[in-house]
Amino acid sequence: MQTKILEIDPLNFQLEKIKEAAEYIKAGKLVVFPTETVYGLGANALDETAVKNIFIAKGRPSDNPLIAHFSDIKDILDFVEIDKNLFEKIKILTPGPITFVLKKKKNIPDIVTAGRNTVAVRIPAHPIARALIKESNTPIAAPSANLSGKPSPTDPQHVIEDLNGRVDVIISGGKVDFGLESTVIDLTEKIPTLLRPGPITPEKLHEIFGKIEIPEFIYGKAKVDVARAPGMKYRHYAPDKKTILIEYSGNRIEKIHQLAKNYKNPLIITFKEDTKYFSNMDILVSGSIENYFEIATNLFGFLREADKTNNDVIIIEGVEDKGLGISIMNRLRKAATEIWR
Ligand code: TXA
Ligand code: MG
Repeated sequence: MQTKILEIDPLNFQLEKIKEAAEYIKAGKLVVFPTETVYGLGANALDETAVKNIFIAKGRPSDNPLIAHFSDIKDILDFVEIDKNLFEKIKILTPGPITFVLKKKKNIPDIVTAGRNTVAVRIPAHPIARALIKESNTPIAAPSANLSGKPSPTDPQHVIEDLNGRVDVIISGGKVDFGLESTVIDLTEKIPTLLRPGPITPEKLHEIFGKIEIPEFIYGKAKVDVARAPGMKYRHYAPDKKTILIEYSGNRIEKIHQLAKNYKNPLIITFKEDTKYFSNMDILVSGSIENYFEIATNLFGFLREADKTNNDVIIIEGVEDKGLGISIMNRLRKAATEIWR
């Protein structure tokens, strides 16, 4: 398949180009588009054949449901059951980097939800994503636009590496803002449950929803409850190379030196502040220990970069499990082949 690359400037786009991409969606084709979290691989959510092609293009297991994206929060009302009180709460967080799991109505095809009676909905804040959905005049089903198992794409170049020749259109709209997939929260029970940590932190969720449940698997401390969080059982975000995560601690530097001795040519992914301890070694800088936002934004990019070097192992310094650090560690624990606590 020949992939059309559409360059679109997110801050100053020509509607004509968005309309061109929207015509592909309407025709049942696959269109990759930027969101503020990561790039998405989209198709008309109401077209079963188109949605089936998403699973084929990224090699995704069919038991892992997709998120339906809308341009306006009001539009979800045709597709989900939600009471007024809850609707008012989720309005506060939209548009933005968060996905809500809600009871679905019949008009969402089973292929989108992997046969569940719930559907995940998201209203992205990215101007290109919103304009594309609006011009397509339909909800767009979209997983992250990576090959299954690979780190999510945060830069158009990552999308091209993974999906060139496998999709109809790639909208190249610059680097994304957050670099971590949306927070996923299940709102189908009385007490909301966090299914995937993301840019909207547990503290923020607590502020809006009151008591929320945070299962142990979020911290990699228990087996995933597959019935509730079907996507979290897969090893994700994984470089091909052996990847060792060092959990955050006061003696992390000694641990890394000790571990590095076992390898010929290790690559250390370290904080700006710690580079001085690895002066004669290969390093990549993840960001500042004082700025988890910076680390989150770079995370998937540096995992891809590290995989391309000729080092024989990747050793990554972890962050603390607090605030955005919870999401960063959730992804790193899944990316790692080995974890040192
Ligand atoms: O930031 C994001 O969320 C990006 C952009 C493109 O929106 N999308 C994304 O999609 O990360 P994906 O498919 O890579 O991850 C969606 C997650 C998966 O873990 C999936 O299992 C879960 O949401 N999910 C989808 N529908 C669900 C449902 N009905 N119940 C429980 N989990 C669901
Ligand atoms: Mg994904």
